[in-house]
Amino acid sequence: MAPTSSDAVRETFLQYFRARNHTEIQGASVLAKDDPTLLFINSGMAAIKDYFTGVRTPPTPNLTNIQPCIRTIDIDDIGDRHHLSFFEMMGSWSIGEYWKDRAVELAYELLTDGFGFNPAQLYVTVHEGDEAMGIPFDEESASAWERVGMPRDHIVAQPTADNFWGPAGNSGPCGPCTEVFLDTGEEYGEAYRPGGEFDTERRYIEIWNAAVCMQYDKGLDGKLSPLPFRSIDTGSGLERITLALNGYDNVYQTDLLSPLVTATQDVLGELGDIQRHHRVIADHLRASVAIMAEGVVPGNEGAGYIPRRLLRRAATLALTRGLSTVDFSPVAEAAIDRLGGVYPHYRTRQDQVISGIRSELGEFEGALRRGLGRLDELLSTKPALTGADAYDLLSTFGLPEEIAREVAASRGAAMEESRYRADFEAARHTHQERSRGEARTETRILPSSILPASVLTLPATTFVGYDRMTERATVLALLGPSVTDGHLAVGGEADLIVDRTPLYGEGGGQVGDRGSFTGPSGAGSVEDTIVHSSGKHIHRVRVTEGTLSVGETITLATDDARRAASAANHSATHLLNAALRRVLGAHVRQAGSLVTPDRLRFDFTHPKPVSPDEMEEIERLVNNWVLDDLPRTTQVMTPAEAIAAGATSLEGESYPDDVRVVSFGGDPAAGFATTVSTELCGGTHVTHSGQLGLLRIVSQESVASGVRRITAYTRHAALEHTLEQGRTLATVAGIAQSSPRDVVEAVERLATRAAAKAAERKSGPTQVDTDAVSALTVGGVDLALAAVPPDQVGGLRGAASGLAKTADRVAVLWTDAEPSTMAVAVPARYQGVVNANTLLRGVLAVLGGKGGGNDTLAQGGGARRPDPDALGATLAGMLPPAS
Ligand code: SER
Repeated sequence: MAPTSSDAVRETFLQYFRARNHTEIQGASVLAKDDPTLLFINSGMAAIKDYFTGVRTPPTPNLTNIQPCIRTIDIDDIGDRHHLSFFEMMGSWSIGEYWKDRAVELAYELLTDGFGFNPAQLYVTVHEGDEAMGIPFDEESASAWERVGMPRDHIVAQPTADNFWGPAGNSGPCGPCTEVFLDTGEEYGEAYRPGGEFDTERRYIEIWNAAVCMQYDKGLDGKLSPLPFRSIDTGSGLERITLALNGYDNVYQTDLLSPLVTATQDVLGELGDIQRHHRVIADHLRASVAIMAEGVVPGNEGAGYIPRRLLRRAATLALTRGLSTVDFSPVAEAAIDRLGGVYPHYRTRQDQVISGIRSELGEFEGALRRGLGRLDELLSTKPALTGADAYDLLSTFGLPEEIAREVAASRGAAMEESRYRADFEAARHTHQERSRGEARTETRILPSSILPASVLTLPATTFVGYDRMTERATVLALLGPSVTDGHLAVGGEADLIVDRTPLYGEGGGQVGDRGSFTGPSGAGSVEDTIVHSSGKHIHRVRVTEGTLSVGETITLATDDARRAASAANHSATHLLNAALRRVLGAHVRQAGSLVTPDRLRFDFTHPKPVSPDEMEEIERLVNNWVLDDLPRTTQVMTPAEAIAAGATSLEGESYPDDVRVVSFGGDPAAGFATTVSTELCGGTHVTHSGQLGLLRIVSQESVASGVRRITAYTRHAALEHTLEQGRTLATVAGIAQSSPRDVVEAVERLATRAAAKAAERKSGPTQVDTDAVSALTVGGVDLALAAVPPDQVGGLRGAASGLAKTADRVAVLWTDAEPSTMAVAVPARYQGVVNANTLLRGVLAVLGGKGGGNDTLAQGGGARRPDPDALGATLAGMLPPAS
């Protein structure tokens, strides 16, 4: 019987290939680890790229698995019948063994016998050939399909855009492919007629890329060269096969997604009664769960950008339809519930994922409001919303493009679509380059770039830089467009590979070394060093004199000062890690680290902000270890020995046979008992902790819920930071007319005054309670006298002026306190007759105090508060008599 549940589909697929000599391998994380050309695994093959190039050898030539994938390239299509941003790809591979015939046989048999599809409903596409690429029509695949029983009129030739797959990222294995489509019936559109359109949007749904014929290796320059051997790569979407086997309209009806759609409907209630929105929200929450369960936190960069974008898109659909706040936890819970059996880490990380989603959405509600505010401003000064504006709103405020466009359109400020789109795309280009995996530097070799076979077979570089800063080395290869016949001329840049090097290659959070080289025919600089996955150090060199050629013996030198600074920051990272665990507790785990010559950044798990006291204790502890000048020791041992010795390792990392263990303190002969820090690490370090000079923690922030980040300086940077803090303090003291010692009190006084003024500005002049005003006439002058509550001292002058004006009397106000502040204001009709300043001084002379002002408004302080009756008598002596 044909399988219908997704679990049965999974098992049928794997069981079929296992029974045909394919080894089942573990699916990888959705995060593309160690692959700078990709942020996410976007197909089964992306996780096993190295097998196709021969860099790594698979356990057996034929493989199968189920690989969770993330693809956001088609994000606008999500919500249709079959596009998803997260999906599970069922894959099978032949690495250098069988070719198209066998791949087609295997696919056809599984589809018809295993899954029970009706052959009449199956169509296949093949590559029609591409002259520019020098690739002929793929007759081999077409004939293979005919041999298994596919009629010719079900075989559709398609161009490169549709039927050439890969590479996954910007370089690597790729080739023409042949794909299987299911005819979902005439209710979905016109039937295909040979020579006519093949509608893959609605009627014909792709259910299997049955063979990518991996035979080319696309270089960073875009050129195709043959791979060392040919392989087959196949991939079939679990969700689509489940849809097809059940005769559903769309993937959201499958058991994988329908509970999520139901949960979404419950969250939105009556407000969001739009079916496509339910689907989009279900999809986006599922993908966010899959990514965040890997420890990724929504953010503006790298992998975090995708869950941020997906969650914001989902929330926008709810928030702009009238929900004031949105809690998608039930949808995320449904996703975890549905897939937690297959991916158990969804369950173990459930709390982290749900709280991460909540906090991202909480923040977004504010961002949405700010973004809409900025949009308002823009639209008040411009006739139309440009694409660049929309991109800016998106990247700065996270305001989704759809909303910006909708609002602009509703105000008649929408730009013409094609101009808008071009403008937007241009602005987005930079970001997309990174998230699609296009090159960071166009022609640069990256750690997982495909190297030419002749280079790949070179031995791994011997790194001598733990002990030496210069080394004689042989130039084994020079790679890059400026290299001609193994020579690089003055001014040229290329990637250099040598047999031995003193330059550290980027790894373990530590940036690569820079330095210089001198050779028999020239000299130049090394701008950066990385390590390729095959173990070769790749030095980015620039020739500044003469030439550099393959075969020469050169001297490579590390930039000492830069290395010393990096080493100090790396050692500081270890000491900081140890101090955090001592002060905050053993739950602290490293969650990320960046070591550069300028600073160190350390991310770690801790559920709440580190308090100022704790921070001081951590800083003091590390600096005590610095003052103790602890020796650093390095030992090479097996991972098991290292763990037994108490070394801190990164969970989930795999280590080779021998590991370096770096420790501080203690006598190595006495074991590790007296060390303060022991870590597995391949980085470079100082020999004694005293070389750090000083560690200063300069900031602490939250990078995710439960993950904090500390940035710190050592050595000269720490000293400069400290001196700068001193200078800043002296400047502040100067402004406050105080000394560094008394500056705190001086600033407090200023702040209190500023707050009172601000309060006055905010609430307008203090209003005097009219019941409290005594109106009397003394001599020929009408007076208004009143005491006001002491906390209104900030608004006293304004209140006096206001009262003088409204009552048209000379106003005398004072705070009901001792000492008391008093203000006198004279209205227009008494100007020239009564002088506010004289009056105030006269009264304060009696009360013990002084003050000043001008003829119409004056303020001062008296030691005692006035008594209204006595005040009347005092004033009588100062005011002109009635005329
Ligand atoms: N890599 C191919 C694809 O993603 C086959 O798995 O379609």
